[in-house]
Amino acid sequence: MNYVVQAEHMHVRYGHSVAVKDISISVKEGELLAIAGANGAGKSTLVNAIAGWSRATPRVSGTVTFKGDDVSKLRAEMRARRGIALVPESRGAFAEMTVHENLSMVDAKNDEGKNFEIEDIFGLFPRLKERRSQQAGTLSGGERQMLAIGRALRAAPSLLILDEPSVGLAPRLVVEVLQHVKELTQDGLAVLLVEQNVRAALEVADRLSLIEQGEITATGTADEMREDDRTISAYLGGLRAP
Ligand SMILES: Nc1ncnc2c1ncn2[C@@H]1O[C@H](COP(=O)(O)OP(=O)(O)OP(=O)(O)O)[C@@H](O)[C@H]1O
Ligand SMILES: [Mg+2]
Repeated sequence: MNYVVQAEHMHVRYGHSVAVKDISISVKEGELLAIAGANGAGKSTLVNAIAGWSRATPRVSGTVTFKGDDVSKLRAEMRARRGIALVPESRGAFAEMTVHENLSMVDAKNDEGKNFEIEDIFGLFPRLKERRSQQAGTLSGGERQMLAIGRALRAAPSLLILDEPSVGLAPRLVVEVLQHVKELTQDGLAVLLVEQNVRAALEVADRLSLIEQGEITATGTADEMREDDRTISAYLGGLRAP
């Protein structure tokens, strides 16, 4: 058991259009679940609903159980306080502030997750340490992604949700960032990773689910999904992952 999060029968509508249709997913302690799917498949809508972020008034139904408690009715800030951290596609560091200032302004919000001091974040991402006095807005895409993950970790989450952390990153950096994320699961952190790069996701994921048009069409362990013809034909261009 020891599920960190169980999202059941998640259904999200924007007006009359249904973006997420009756999706159920769960992530255990120390587990990394990847979610892949095409543009517009509903990935961000799903993870935003789990974190309680609802922009432009979507209508959300379903149950989100976090560490045994039903948090479905809680606002995003309250879910964050309990230990759900979401790094959104837009990333959200403060451009005018330095790296160090960005990391300083977040405090651990709950005492159950692992506490990350600023030095711990610098240990994880040495590049941020070198650039501690640089304004966040002038960081490279990869560095900004590291800062966003660092900021999320400062809140001592039990569940880290990353929405396409590899967008705009060079292939080598994708591997580097995802490996760092993978290391975090060793302390029990549950990770929900939205990733279009299925090959990269399969390198680090314990399990992977595919979303197509708001529905999960395939789900399995990384090994199973590597063998899954749908995964291969849709995302790996007919080539088998090494
Ligand atoms: N605020 C909104 N109002 C209306 N429709 C929306 C809104 N946000 C998303 N949608 C629609 O919902 C569907 C799912 O969008 P979503 O952003 O969840 O996709 P995604 O899988 O994250 O795609 P991408 O890989 O491009 O980020 C899309 O058809 C999108 O146009
Ligand atoms: Mg998205």
